[in-house]
Amino acid sequence: MATDLPSLLVDIKPGIIDLGWGHPSPRLHPFDEVKEASLKMFQKGDNSPLQYGATQGFGPFLESLATFLSRQDAYLSNVDPHNLFLTAGASQGLDLAATLYADSGDTVLVEEPTYFVIEKIFREHSLNIVGIPTDENGIDTTALQDLLKNGLRPKFLYTIPTFQNPTGSSIDETRRKHLVDLANEYDFQIFADEVYQLIGFDKDTSIPMMSFDYGDKVISFGSFSKILAPGLRTGWIHSSKKVIDKFSDAALTFSGGGFNHYASALIKEVIDLGHLDSNVSNLKKEYLSRAVQMDKSLSEYLGGVVSYSFPKGGYYFWLKFPEGFDSDVFLNSAEASGVSYRPGNAFSESGKFSQYLRLTYTLFEATEIAEGVRRLSMAYRDI
Ligand SMILES: Cc1ncc(COP(=O)(O)O)c(C=O)c1O
Repeated sequence: MATDLPSLLVDIKPGIIDLGWGHPSPRLHPFDEVKEASLKMFQKGDNSPLQYGATQGFGPFLESLATFLSRQDAYLSNVDPHNLFLTAGASQGLDLAATLYADSGDTVLVEEPTYFVIEKIFREHSLNIVGIPTDENGIDTTALQDLLKNGLRPKFLYTIPTFQNPTGSSIDETRRKHLVDLANEYDFQIFADEVYQLIGFDKDTSIPMMSFDYGDKVISFGSFSKILAPGLRTGWIHSSKKVIDKFSDAALTFSGGGFNHYASALIKEVIDLGHLDSNVSNLKKEYLSRAVQMDKSLSEYLGGVVSYSFPKGGYYFWLKFPEGFDSDVFLNSAEASGVSYRPGNAFSESGKFSQYLRLTYTLFEATEIAEGVRRLSMAYRDI
């Protein structure tokens, strides 16, 4: 029977090349590989994935995940499964972290600009959000230090250290160290949202925040959404044993058992079959070629108008338009021309980013990317 209820988070409007959503390409979902892993899981005849799971996460999954992470160039070479915790995706992990590390009315810090849903998540916890400036080397830790010296007392700082959403920039090593020092000196947690960490185009992607931690300050959030499939709703936290125990002992975790236990048992098989490694390397290849196409089209159609840095990984181009441009206002003209994007001010409550907009290169095929950028340029010429 037909239903008028939606099936997906986003239904792209017909006729629009929507470069606004940060979603993976449906063509690249590893359907056959997930099917093979499901069969393997069921053939084992073990029905424990259907039971409530261990609060830290399904042990065999945590072991396989630790082995997988340890062999990634862009990760640490010795991840201990005891330092991992299963989540139902980075969003869920961050929401629980906000519950555990802050009370209503507390001050928390975000980068400016930042992931557009995070401020909403923190508002739902009635937190007081303060933005910290960023530049091409990530968060400005000197500006942060000045605010801390002047009495700012946050409970935590939320950062996307590598291939930031929306800017694509990564925090350099000096600032990573500085950030951890500040967190220790002023006693706040660092929520490092590292969902793009493993999809860098170069071998020399920045090393994750956990490698700079010398105490209990860094809580790293990883996700299978960007490296396998977001519909699986599974991710992980990597942190010190003290932090992992806090998440494992949370009332929510204890009530329902480990998050997304069933999906994690399936992902364990995907990892053990070697399909996660091959998927990650395929995604990196495909995304790089789409980013190259977007870069080519931007210089062909909007050269001399927009400025940006070519991304070294992740999902996005962060475009700066000439002074006086307003990406909120321009959105209507762009959509009338059959293309969409995410306006800069969606990424900050400060309203400072009218001159910017974000384009995603992962969801659409290269030919559609070229056509989308052409449409954007036509709409721009008409304003
Ligand atoms: C920075 C960032 N964090 C978290 C998420 C969502 O992650 P998950 O699907 O694991 O909840 C996204 C998705 O776009 C993101 O860009």
